[in-house]
Amino acid sequence: MVLAMLEGTVALVTGASSGIGEATALRLAELGASVALVARRRDRIEDLAGRIGDRALAIEADVSLKVQAQRAVEQTVSELGRLDTLVNNAGVMLLGPVQDAPLEEWERMLAVNVAGLLYCAHAALPHLLGAAQDGPRQVADMVNISSVAGRVARLGSGVYNLTKHGVGAFSESLRQEVGGRHVRVSLVEPGAVETELRSHNRPEVQEQIAQRFGDIEHLQAPDIADAIAYIVTRPRHVAVNELLVRPTEQQG
Ligand SMILES: NC(=O)c1ccc[n+]([C@@H]2O[C@H](COP(=O)([O-])OP(=O)(O)OC[C@H]3O[C@@H](n4cnc5c(N)ncnc54)[C@H](OP(=O)(O)O)[C@@H]3O)[C@@H](O)[C@H]2O)c1
Repeated sequence: MVLAMLEGTVALVTGASSGIGEATALRLAELGASVALVARRRDRIEDLAGRIGDRALAIEADVSLKVQAQRAVEQTVSELGRLDTLVNNAGVMLLGPVQDAPLEEWERMLAVNVAGLLYCAHAALPHLLGAAQDGPRQVADMVNISSVAGRVARLGSGVYNLTKHGVGAFSESLRQEVGGRHVRVSLVEPGAVETELRSHNRPEVQEQIAQRFGDIEHLQAPDIADAIAYIVTRPRHVAVNELLVRPTEQQG
């Protein structure tokens, strides 16, 4: 029965306090998984945990801090019992020209999109390998959220492009390393999704982003949650390595 495909498994979703992460946590819970909800905004993840019920665990953590990322993984395993699925979703997108860019914006993107993802991947990997060996499904998943920006570089997105291209390269290398042991590493590359992501940009940059996308119909967070759910519910011998999902009207 489709609805119970992830019964008995445990998923950890980073950036679960809004947007794609929130929608993904809800979707994986619907499929029967217990879910650890990781983000900095405690009120948001506690509210989400309340909506999901007793199979959800809210963990306040800043994944860009090594100790907090490690603790989030360890707390998931100690309180929910195991770890079968890691969705590395937490991210920030701070755009604009390279010239005169605030270095603090670059540092935040590198810290969350790259270091945060690596800390979570490193801490989770032994548990994913264990789940693939003796878990209910004999397979485990790490889903890394990149972007169209991880495929195509654009003027005004240089450092965001750098972080997301890096996520793609790391994912492919790790896929080759652990696929033989039934840990699947997948890359999801969304186009424009209606979330809070762009609201953290400077006003002039937000204006440029709005102009770029005009009034095209954006993806909604549950559209990407569906893609992630598809990946993690494939049979053990099927690995969806990469999914690029754009709004139908998005050109570049
Ligand atoms: N929206 C799009 O158009 C789009 C397109 C392609 C790719 N993506 C990617 O999709 C992912 C999710 O973005 P979204 O669109 O859903 O945006 P969002 O609504 O802004 O969500 C970002 C999430 O990341 C979390 N986060 C940020 N910094 C964190 C940190 N240091 N530690 C822990 N969590 C942190 C935020 O939670 P807290 O603030 O509570 O910590 C929030 O839950 C990102 O990796 C983004 O690059 C989005």
